[in-house]
Amino acid sequence: MEKKITIAVDGFASCGKSTLAKGIAKALDYAYIDTGAMYRAVTLYCIENEVNIKDDASIQNALDAIDIRFKTIDGKNTTFLNDKNVEEDIRKMPVNNLVSEVAAISLVRRAMVRQQQEMGKEKGVILDGRDIGTVVFPDAELKLFMTANINVRTQRRLLELQAKGQTVSLEEIAKNLQHRDHIDSTRADSPLKQADDAIVIDNSNLSESEQLAMCLALSKLRMREEAS
Ligand code: C5P
Repeated sequence: MEKKITIAVDGFASCGKSTLAKGIAKALDYAYIDTGAMYRAVTLYCIENEVNIKDDASIQNALDAIDIRFKTIDGKNTTFLNDKNVEEDIRKMPVNNLVSEVAAISLVRRAMVRQQQEMGKEKGVILDGRDIGTVVFPDAELKLFMTANINVRTQRRLLELQAKGQTVSLEEIAKNLQHRDHIDSTRADSPLKQADDAIVIDNSNLSESEQLAMCLALSKLRMREEAS
């Protein structure tokens, strides 16, 4: 017997969290919530509408005007901002360069966390982000904390962006990943940190399929434990 659980995946930028979360969601037929996409969508809105992110009233107005939804299109998790498909735009460098500043704003976090808790309230869900196991779902039955060597992460992100036709240098990517990790781990409101009960997965030397097999085994173990 197996019982549906909540799985929290946290970790540094470009550690393969979403690849793993999507793989587990597919294998277990779980819902997947990409919380980073939500902070990215807010950031895109702020860029496009020239929102002064230092001003709380402007941020609140922006949050009141933002509607974020996920839809599955051609089998892919796709982000919609006010009914517009923004899946590509939220992964580009202007958003990469500002998202951690926007995600550090408490007003933004409060709004996103509320929505994530609502979307994930049924069991049988996997979320990836920075504060899932510590803040969003501290009672998640399985918490994974992912990490990988910075050179491996930079190289992976380069290949990913190149595959999407974006021209960006290795140095620019390395700088962005380190900048985001620094802000994400040192911000005052819900910084990125490993939950005490999280299992650390360093995937520097793991292939995608090895990592998936390992984490699926951990998930099934917890699902069986919950059922017994
Ligand atoms: O996961 P992804 O790299 O797409 O996340 C983009 C950014 O969103 C992170 O660098 C972080 O600043 C922010 N984020 C966050 N909390 C989450 C998910 C993402 O602060 N739960």
